[in-house]
Amino acid sequence: MKLGRYNWDLPVFLAPMAGVTDKAFRETVRLVGGKYTVTEMISAKALNYQNCHTLHMLEIKDETEPRIVQLFGSDPDNMAQAAKLAESLGADVLDINMGCPTPKIVKNREGAALLRDPSLATKIAAAVVQAVNLPVTVKIRLGWTKKEIIAAELANRLESVGVSMITVHARTREQFYAGQAEWEWIRRVKEITNVPVIGNGDITNPEQALQMIEQTGCDGVMIGRGALGNPWLIPQIQHYLKFKKLLSQPALKDRITMVLQHFEYLIEYKGNRIGLNEMRKHAAWYVKGFKNAAALRNRIMQTRDIMEMKDLFCRIADKN
Ligand SMILES: Cc1cc2nc3c(=O)[nH]c(=O)nc-3n(C[C@H](O)[C@H](O)[C@H](O)COP(=O)(O)O)c2cc1C
Repeated sequence: MKLGRYNWDLPVFLAPMAGVTDKAFRETVRLVGGKYTVTEMISAKALNYQNCHTLHMLEIKDETEPRIVQLFGSDPDNMAQAAKLAESLGADVLDINMGCPTPKIVKNREGAALLRDPSLATKIAAAVVQAVNLPVTVKIRLGWTKKEIIAAELANRLESVGVSMITVHARTREQFYAGQAEWEWIRRVKEITNVPVIGNGDITNPEQALQMIEQTGCDGVMIGRGALGNPWLIPQIQHYLKFKKLLSQPALKDRITMVLQHFEYLIEYKGNRIGLNEMRKHAAWYVKGFKNAAALRNRIMQTRDIMEMKDLFCRIADKN
């Protein structure tokens, strides 16, 4: 598939996830072989306001291409201004969030609220496309409720104002993250639009990724929750789509080396206090499926510094 100057073959994206896909996790995913990552969603308002925390989230200049930045907002001019700023800070691709279901976001007409206002959604996309010299992509859900499915119509409108790729999370806003994603709608969006369509929702193993591509004809896939504590899933899917063969899971020792590297990145980018908090969250995901996982999780929550956390994971590696 073509996206601006890029030519990507069945890309496997790490989904944007607020509170998860920060620079430390994106770097970790790249280190294990993932190629396409997206930032957490970034508020256009906060960026234009030059909010310090938001600017920190956009310290992406030294990351490997493509640096895909996701913005959210409800005002076309504001979004255009933020898009220009993101471009100047190193973004290679700009993605617009039209799917976040969180009440505090939708009450501001942002995120999934735009599914109910396709005219505003289209104006926002048009303003961002006009503002930057980058490919602009949009991530949508199916609609607000099952009775208000709008994905195909919206995709068409977005394409008509110059959007270069559309990701479909095959759920409605009403579903939040519950129930099954309805991949059939991804097929319908793909049929009706000419831009690349990326399928998203409920892929947790390589076979499911291939199944989604076969069922919907989508041009690539995006993985969210399946990658929590399991960044290896992304390169495993990439490999499976290319060679139709499963990669074996890396040895426990190698996985733990990577976990410790992830923790180093967290401390480097976020400092000791916030880094440790974030580390606890990821550590609890990493030990999923380990022997005595519940007890390990308790100990993870009680760790007081990075040395203790490292020690815990080194002991897990040595015991196995
Ligand atoms: C913790 C969490 C945070 C998320 N944050 C974002 C976000 O910032 N932007 C976005 O477009 N989607 C966000 N999502 C939605 C995911 O990108 C993805 O669409 C959704 O999880 C469905 O994919 P999955 O079934 O592979 O998890 C988030 C999901 C989770 C679980």
